[in-house]
Amino acid sequence: MTTTRQNRIITLDEFIIKNQKHYNDATGSLTRLLRDIGIASKIVNREVNKAGLVNILGDAKSGNSSGDNVQKLDLFANQVMIECLQNSGECAGVASEEDEKWTKLNPVSNKRADYVVVMDPLDGSSNIDVNVSVGTIFGIYKKLTKTKSGVKESDFFQKGSKMVAAGYVLYGTSTILVYTTGNGVNGFTLDPSIGEFCLSHKNIKMPDFGIYYSVNQGYYQKFDLEVRRFIDNCNDENYRLRYIGSMVSDVHRSLFKGGIFLYPNTRKYPGGKLRLLYECNPMAMIVEQAGGIAVDCQLNRILDVPVTSIHQRSTIAIGSKKMVKDFISHVKKYSAVK
Ligand code: AHG
Ligand code: MN
Ligand code: MN
Repeated sequence: MTTTRQNRIITLDEFIIKNQKHYNDATGSLTRLLRDIGIASKIVNREVNKAGLVNILGDAKSGNSSGDNVQKLDLFANQVMIECLQNSGECAGVASEEDEKWTKLNPVSNKRADYVVVMDPLDGSSNIDVNVSVGTIFGIYKKLTKTKSGVKESDFFQKGSKMVAAGYVLYGTSTILVYTTGNGVNGFTLDPSIGEFCLSHKNIKMPDFGIYYSVNQGYYQKFDLEVRRFIDNCNDENYRLRYIGSMVSDVHRSLFKGGIFLYPNTRKYPGGKLRLLYECNPMAMIVEQAGGIAVDCQLNRILDVPVTSIHQRSTIAIGSKKMVKDFISHVKKYSAVK
């Protein structure tokens, strides 16, 4: 007698191997790189989950290259990601929020390393001590340097639209890895009982509209008039304010429920706070792939903004199509810059 199993589990590894043909990855090199990231995020997840039990919480007493306080888990996540990216030898170099300069990885068995990775190893790290969600963000580019293992700074200075893959991991009530290779967005929930990411959200489409807006409203007085007018309108429309303080978590909510996330310029951060290369760009690629929009407060498409330094900052408005279009209308109507 033969039996057919309903709802067969598809693991992340199985999915990326099956799909490599969709992104011209005949050699399997991007596939191996994505698998390295999957392994790293399982290790980071393990540590995030037991953070309350061991002595890796708290301030590592060294500001990171962007001048923010670094929590110890940030450093751990950074190290694990870099070590795992080193594994398959597909990655030539890494640019991370935690390192002032990008890192060149050692070649493995004299093999060609075609990619560079940009990452925020732990996003929302101020949430760790209080058991609130954090995440990992990553973006992958094909390097421009032609030599086998060579890599230059200019390999990282590519517009977001040049990324071949991007994703994030959200360590929340459950752990979910969401990624795209430019052919739709899929989500994989970690089943802790088998230690595998399993396909849970296939071909994610962002609602065109939602009732949530996400912004640090404590800075309201520091925002430009057009941003304040947009927020006023969100209030008038009775949209619900949700703000976790971890971009990954806030954008994740919008991706599934519909909504908009804003981090505009303030007096403290005149060019915005978030980093273009490893925060805004990967999240923008995912949101666009799911049918949403991501622009900066000058209304440039995030993925088209030239990258001129690793830790470059940007403003951002990202989310459901209709809501970002509404933000754009407010900027056009009220901005002092015409
Ligand atoms: P990180 O923990 O990697 O430094 O990122 C924190 C970022 C982002 O995730 C979040 O949306 C934002 O900073 C919160 O900033 P405010 O506390 O200024 O709202
Ligand atoms: Mn971050
Ligand atoms: Mn971070």
